[in-house]
Amino acid sequence: MPTSSLNPHLPFGENKNAEWYGKDIISVKQFKREDLEYIFGVAHEMRGMVERIGTFDLLKGKILANLFYEPSTRTSSSFTAAMERLGGSVIPINEVKYSSVSKGESLPDTVRTLECYADVIVLRHPETGSAAIAAKAARKPVINAGDGVGEHPTQALLDTFTIFEELGAGQVDGMTVTMLGDLKYGRTVHSLARLLSLFKVKINYVSPDILKMPKEVMDEVAVKGIPQAEFGSLEKVLPETDVLYVTRVQKERFEDPADYEKVKGAYVIDPIVMKAAKKDMIVMHPLPRVGEISVDFDDDPRAAYFRQMEYGLYVRMALLAMVLGKA
Ligand code: NCD
Repeated sequence: MPTSSLNPHLPFGENKNAEWYGKDIISVKQFKREDLEYIFGVAHEMRGMVERIGTFDLLKGKILANLFYEPSTRTSSSFTAAMERLGGSVIPINEVKYSSVSKGESLPDTVRTLECYADVIVLRHPETGSAAIAAKAARKPVINAGDGVGEHPTQALLDTFTIFEELGAGQVDGMTVTMLGDLKYGRTVHSLARLLSLFKVKINYVSPDILKMPKEVMDEVAVKGIPQAEFGSLEKVLPETDVLYVTRVQKERFEDPADYEKVKGAYVIDPIVMKAAKKDMIVMHPLPRVGEISVDFDDDPRAAYFRQMEYGLYVRMALLAMVLGKA
């Protein structure tokens, strides 16, 4: 990493030859291990800049269209904050029902419209594959902020950055990561399992029988030579776990509400359960939580889920700077 990869004074405003200039971010399958080292280096610098000066002009004059067809608090507001901390501005479309989408406009047409006004589009949509469809229609970069039960690549990047910053980059190889909860519908774990397969980790999946990690994801991870094992309860694997990644049961994705009722309270992490875990491990959660981590655990130093949100700001700043040719 050079001393600074952020250059607001590049000729013509942006480096069109930079590797990530103009690229879409659709799936974690795009990333190699070296890419992560680069992104996390830039994110680390962003953290330093925010801590020292708060807001700066790296993306001055650039505009982000934040197009959300599904609810969001963290992803949407952290992309907004990321753009504004870099001196850019945002067109927020959170309530698609007030946009032409409610008149029946197609996703490709909406994206073609927004790219007339914006330099980059962040999209969250309920259908798997929608981000790829939008990226095909658009000339400007599209960033996938969650496509149904498919992927959530920027979340997986910030999750992995959290692990690097909290436990040390050198520690990732050899680590045991346990994913808990709704592994079937949780797009964050689909992306995270794939991304972590770039490292020499061991992955445990703990879920109710009807919410197991999809075979497609497990097969892709297996090809990378990663040991994986499935469990119905946490007991056996908690003592060896370095990262416990807890997820919400995705109520909105169930076809039969009775199935949701059967599994909604399946696991609860609290101080008693966590007595069996290591002292130097971390508990993560993409949030929102709906009871699967007790608030009594929040003051435990191992509770990393609030810090995780902050890391998301720096990773999203890095990604915006990269696709706009400024990092
Ligand atoms: C997640 C999502 O939207 O997939 N939230 C997030 O982006 N932080 C997880 C969830 O909704 O459970």
